[in-house]
Amino acid sequence: MISKHIKNLAPSGIRQFFDLVLGMPEVISLGVGEPDFVTPWRIRERAITALEEGMTSYTSNKGLFVLREAVSNFMEKRHSLKYNPEEEVLITVGVSEGLDLAIRSIISKGDKVIVISPHFVAYPALVEIAGGSVIYVPTTQENNFKIDIKKLKAALKTNPKAIILNNPSNPTGAAYDAKELYRIWEQIKSKDTIVISDEVYDELIYEGKTKSFPSLDEGARERTILLNGFSKAYAMTGFRLGYACANKQIIEAMTKIHSFAMMCAPIISQVAAVEALKAQKDVLEMRNEYKRRRNFIVKELNRLGMNMPMPEGAFYCFPSVKKFKISSLELAKRLLFEEKVALVPGTAFGKEYDSYVRISYANTLDNLREAIIRIERFLKKL
Ligand SMILES: Cc1ncc(COP(=O)(O)O)c(C=O)c1O
Repeated sequence: MISKHIKNLAPSGIRQFFDLVLGMPEVISLGVGEPDFVTPWRIRERAITALEEGMTSYTSNKGLFVLREAVSNFMEKRHSLKYNPEEEVLITVGVSEGLDLAIRSIISKGDKVIVISPHFVAYPALVEIAGGSVIYVPTTQENNFKIDIKKLKAALKTNPKAIILNNPSNPTGAAYDAKELYRIWEQIKSKDTIVISDEVYDELIYEGKTKSFPSLDEGARERTILLNGFSKAYAMTGFRLGYACANKQIIEAMTKIHSFAMMCAPIISQVAAVEALKAQKDVLEMRNEYKRRRNFIVKELNRLGMNMPMPEGAFYCFPSVKKFKISSLELAKRLLFEEKVALVPGTAFGKEYDSYVRISYANTLDNLREAIIRIERFLKKL
């Protein structure tokens, strides 16, 4: 019954693994990529009043104009980026839909797309669903999981239609600074390659500063599809809301697919998101808490011999388990069954990463402390 195309698509390594976790009591989950905070009250309250006001209709396909305007103002304030809210901003159902629309609107059958690994699980699957083929450019721990310019140069020789960048990165937490981004853009600039810049963790950076890719220069702005959303920094995963900013031609193409496939993002979420963009104090509080947790878990994992470069953003770390001579899947399964701690095997993010695991520190400090006790006990048995 199922199309060949979809039948051959590998399911997400994370989902497969977390089907195991479901229903297991007392598990400390360091696996899912989701904030442990509930959405800040002022945002929830706005969603409640929106319902009370009877806001239950469709919106325009591109999204409520007030939200597009708020996104445009936010981008200008945060990154000095100017996007016309009429033509250059599209409200999507999460960054997930933004990614799908971006890829489907520019990829024709057989087009190549560069994916830098370890990578967010959806990238290769969405490229394949769109009929494209993936050119992987793996990064290494020695290089702080940042792209090696020589490897990028070689990959660009295949004339890819697009490159997907994720800054800061899921799963490594690596964040590129302005200089590093310029170095990447230097290579791409002379080609026709379009940049899909997934910046969903942009507001969760703990050290230094980053730049939004399209803010590098006018050329980068013209050639980048910027994707961001509310799931992570605003703890709004269940609201399913994101946005895409790009030139008029690209936003029009994305809107075409969106209007047939989705019609529009939910109105209640859109109204809540306008409020969210004013809730910077709440974002700051959550960010400070993530930073405290990151400092704790990285120090402890290093003490246990699970070493890694310091993650600069997002809420993940990607430590090496090479020293323990066990595959990442075996380690994850045994740790789950023997000590009830769930983390994600590195291979979910690229086949080269069997000596790594992803740990999400979007969990309370108490749980992280207990998880470290359990991991230490487990490692001693190996
Ligand atoms: C890098 C990255 N991009 C996109 C998404 C999807 O986010 P959303 O909830 O906005 O669809 C995630 C979620 O984990 C992610 O880690």
